Amino acid sequence: MTNLEIDTVIEKGKEILSEHHKQTFHKYREVGQLVLASGYRKGQWNSEDRKKALEEWAISRQTFDNMVNLGLMTETEFANAVSEFPSVHAWANRGRPTELRPLPEVKFDIIYADPPWEYRVKHRRGSPEKHYPTMTLDQICNIEIPASENAVLFLWGTNPLLEEALKVMDAWGFKYKSNMVWVKDKFGTGFYFRGQHELLLVGVKGDVHPPTESNRFPSVLQAPVKEHSEKPTEVYDIIEKMYPNATYLELFARKQRLGWQAWGNEV
Ligand SMILES: C[S@@+](CC[C@H](N)C(=O)[O-])C[C@H]1O[C@@H](n2cnc3c(N)ncnc32)[C@H](O)[C@@H]1O
Repeated sequence: MTNLEIDTVIEKGKEILSEHHKQTFHKYREVGQLVLASGYRKGQWNSEDRKKALEEWAISRQTFDNMVNLGLMTETEFANAVSEFPSVHAWANRGRPTELRPLPEVKFDIIYADPPWEYRVKHRRGSPEKHYPTMTLDQICNIEIPASENAVLFLWGTNPLLEEALKVMDAWGFKYKSNMVWVKDKFGTGFYFRGQHELLLVGVKGDVHPPTESNRFPSVLQAPVKEHSEKPTEVYDIIEKMYPNATYLELFARKQRLGWQAWGNEV
């Protein structure tokens, strides 16, 4: 493996990251090991190579470093990390402060947000706190969203906290217009229904028109579940087609999408 060309590593890494059946923890370690085998620590990579990898893999610098660190672990260290943390995100966030990072100073036409909702019932199976820090409704409402005068908000709500999602939409200055449902390939937990869908709410601010008719999508998106809380990448394509040539900001992002500004404590 030592003579692998860096481009081959990038291509192979892309393949590994797109394997949906594998846990991200394992995929990240595998990619980290490939990077190391191609001489990353021996100075074989220059900053252009790393930039290309970040772009091709749609990851942040932080995630790249995490992959390398996972790749450096012994089998036992890795097995311990996997058993101690429910997800690679939880492992990467261990001991991280939760205060807000500065928001971008420029304003955006499109805001896409997936907040870390705090649930009323804690310590249930699959609770978000096992994966990342959550925020109270007030904390989320008080974020000063850098939205243009005329802007569209795409906001993921959760079924038990739908009222809260509408409150956030209102607090951020948007008027609710419609929603799309993401239907998952499997169901999870839930008190009344076992959740198999999530809602993406759409709201507008100022003088905004609906997308042209040819750029309107069906309100149902069928897509498989991936990591905890991870939303389907198809949503980026949908938003870009609905509102082309706009400026896009993702709040609470975990990945970097080309052409978008990403903000959150994991990017
Ligand atoms: C529901 S998840 C977003 C998942 C993302 N949409 C995806 O597809 O992977 C919420 C995110 O908000 C982040 N978060 C929690 N507290 C935060 C804070 N104070 N500032 C910024 N991000 C925060 C969490 O770490 C987590 O990455």
